[in-house]
Amino acid sequence: MGRDQRYLLLLGLACFVFLTRSSGFKICAYNVQNFNTSKVSDSRVLHLLTRILSNCDVCLLQEVKDPDGKAMGELVSSLNRYMQTRYDEYSYDYVTSKGLGQSEKKEQYVFLYRNQTAKLVDKYQYPKSKKGNEDVFSREPFIVHFKAPKTKIGQFVLIPLRAEPLNALKELDSLFDVFTEMMKKWKVENVLLLGDFHADCGYVTRKNRMNNRLFATNGLFWLLRDDVDTTVTDMTDCAYDRFVVHGEKFLKAIEPLSARVFNFKRKFQISTEQILKISDHYPIEVELKEVKSAGQLQALMQPFLLILPLVVLLILPESTIGLM
Ligand SMILES: *[C@@H]1O[C@H](CO)[C@@H](O)[C@H](O)[C@H]1NC(C)=O
Ligand SMILES: *[C@@H]1O[C@H](CO)[C@@H](O)[C@H](O)[C@H]1NC(C)=O
Repeated sequence: MGRDQRYLLLLGLACFVFLTRSSGFKICAYNVQNFNTSKVSDSRVLHLLTRILSNCDVCLLQEVKDPDGKAMGELVSSLNRYMQTRYDEYSYDYVTSKGLGQSEKKEQYVFLYRNQTAKLVDKYQYPKSKKGNEDVFSREPFIVHFKAPKTKIGQFVLIPLRAEPLNALKELDSLFDVFTEMMKKWKVENVLLLGDFHADCGYVTRKNRMNNRLFATNGLFWLLRDDVDTTVTDMTDCAYDRFVVHGEKFLKAIEPLSARVFNFKRKFQISTEQILKISDHYPIEVELKEVKSAGQLQALMQPFLLILPLVVLLILPESTIGLM
């Protein structure tokens, strides 16, 4: 067998290992623009949302306007029906904040999670606070603590924010206070800040980031770069939605380069018009590394063990084989 063929075989093996790699634990954030009962009553929208969200182990939903829980109820039932036909051991649950913001347009933060892979440990509504006469946040973060035994990191805290566009810079700076307070309060280090930060385009420019603690503090890592586009239309190209992770330890527990915009237009082959019926944002997602269970490892190794003798034969120089 020639050299090229050996390389091809090895390449094939590498691809095989890559393809059989488990897909990791996904955290998503999605601004589902004006999410209410009217939205879920459109069956195509509901089906599409279901397919999108079924990829996530935990998903932050923003702009939820569902005070009586009817829309979320429909969504979760739809998700659980969908999961049952595919992976019967999975089902979704959710936890929601109350309506936040000015009375005529109150919005909730909702965390949707797979109850087999994520356990809700604690939740906390950050209180309303003022600087001078102004509210510090338009929608105060609703903070959650999850345990996720299958992930390397094991547990983490999520701090969401949907920043008011014109106040985004100030809100992001104040989010730093929330972050430090929560680390003290819950004695945790593994924190991920996420959401529609409006952290780009006209609202947050490069120049005015310098004195902003969320941007300028060492040990806070912005996973999505400024050149990604989390918006749907061609008219806008802005990295509004973001993940900011705290600490080297947490960063190392994240699959490298896994943070991305989930642009499902290509995957699901649907029109922009259809996508806009859900939202003018795309979801963002990031993958946490998983601890491989003994069973999984064994399954992963098995083909290797079968092929190993062959590989040894191929790699050894022919002269050695001749001697054997
Ligand atoms: C849901 O939101 C839309 C705006 O996107 C609005 O037109 C509609 O009336 C709302 N439905 C309900 C039931 O509030
Ligand atoms: C997950 O939720 C489903 C449906 O609510 C429930 O039947 C199941 O026992 C839950 N599983 C766990 C591990 O909590």
